[in-house]
Amino acid sequence: TTYNLLLLPGDGIGVETIAEVERIVDFFNKAGKVKFATETDLVGGAAYDKHGVAITDAAMDKAQKADAVIFGAVGGPKWDGVPYAVRPEAGLLRLRKDLGLFANLRPAICYPALADASSLKRELVEGLDIMIVRELTGGVYFGEPKEIVTLESGEKRAVDTQVYTTSEIERIAKVAFDLARRRGNKVHSAEKRNVMRTGVLWNEVVTATHKSYAPDVKLEHILADNCAMQLVRNPKQFDVIVTDNLFGDVLSDEAAMATGSLGMLPSASLGAPDAKTGKRKALYEPVHGSAPDIAGKGLANPIATIASFGMALRYSFDMGEEADLLDKAIASVLAAGLRTGDIMQPGMNKVGTAEMGSAILEQLRKL
Ligand code: NAI
Ligand code: MG
Repeated sequence: TTYNLLLLPGDGIGVETIAEVERIVDFFNKAGKVKFATETDLVGGAAYDKHGVAITDAAMDKAQKADAVIFGAVGGPKWDGVPYAVRPEAGLLRLRKDLGLFANLRPAICYPALADASSLKRELVEGLDIMIVRELTGGVYFGEPKEIVTLESGEKRAVDTQVYTTSEIERIAKVAFDLARRRGNKVHSAEKRNVMRTGVLWNEVVTATHKSYAPDVKLEHILADNCAMQLVRNPKQFDVIVTDNLFGDVLSDEAAMATGSLGMLPSASLGAPDAKTGKRKALYEPVHGSAPDIAGKGLANPIATIASFGMALRYSFDMGEEADLLDKAIASVLAAGLRTGDIMQPGMNKVGTAEMGSAILEQLRKL
């Protein structure tokens, strides 16, 4: 099988961390089970500098045809003054919109070697492995009306509108239940049905969708505020959490802090399955940005981007075993004491981007 990968390094440390992914891709190509055909294109400030837009139509066309897109990061002070429509983030937003990426998967995994870097106590996070499934294209960030109007009294009134349809809720619920089947078979659905009509519908549709996944997959409903509290009190009670765009934004950042560093966090964004092939459009990216403060110095932690490629192996290429190997390689490099600056701890061995990448490759070869 040949898979088409589009690499979009973008700006700042995105370029450096994607370079490490390329080495991992080479490793799997040499292993010979499948072939990854990679193409690279510009996005963000880099695309703006060359073409005057944050992503070209030609690059979008490649993204549409690719089996997966691996994205680095975009932005930086250099582009702070560029017109809004072509600012670096516009590249990522267009990718999400045109590829229909409605499901955002944010794992929160705590590698045992990093448990002391968590904002929570070691015993609460050691071995933590949860997946937050956030609806990404609907809800209050997009609902109309969305406006600030000045009233006759001179006072201003701001409105955002939370909107969800049955089909939007059903498709994100399916993503969560499908994932749970490959993990711990437990889904928590978080909403605020006590105060929001969208919460009531969310609850109903998730319950109905669950019928075709029961009894092997368990479903629990949880109020989003309680979910926030439980994530700090006892995060290991969760397997998969499915929630809307706004709650998902907040809960996934909260869960992230249980794991230590921004430089460790991967993500995936998935579209609807193709009617014929069943394949989903997919984009994989680290949670962090372009880190202008350390860009170009070889200091960035490549693990978030490498782990994002690991998610591509798992969810786009059905290479779960290889994804497990990659996770093991990362865990053992950390256990051996290698640390980039962002995860540095006393007594550990400080390394740069390429050294971290090399160490992970070396572990992969041994496994
Ligand atoms: P950031 O994530 O780029 O950096 C925040 C802090 O974490 C910095 O001190 C940085 O050095 C550190 N950091 C982040 N990733 C790291 C890694 N892999 N290894 C070591 N240290 C790491 O967020 P910030 O500073 O708010 O934004 C910088 C630029 O990135 C802005 O232009 C922003 O718009 C853009 N950005 C882009 C995103 C994307 O492309 N998806 C997401 C977030 C921000
Ligand atoms: Mg956020």
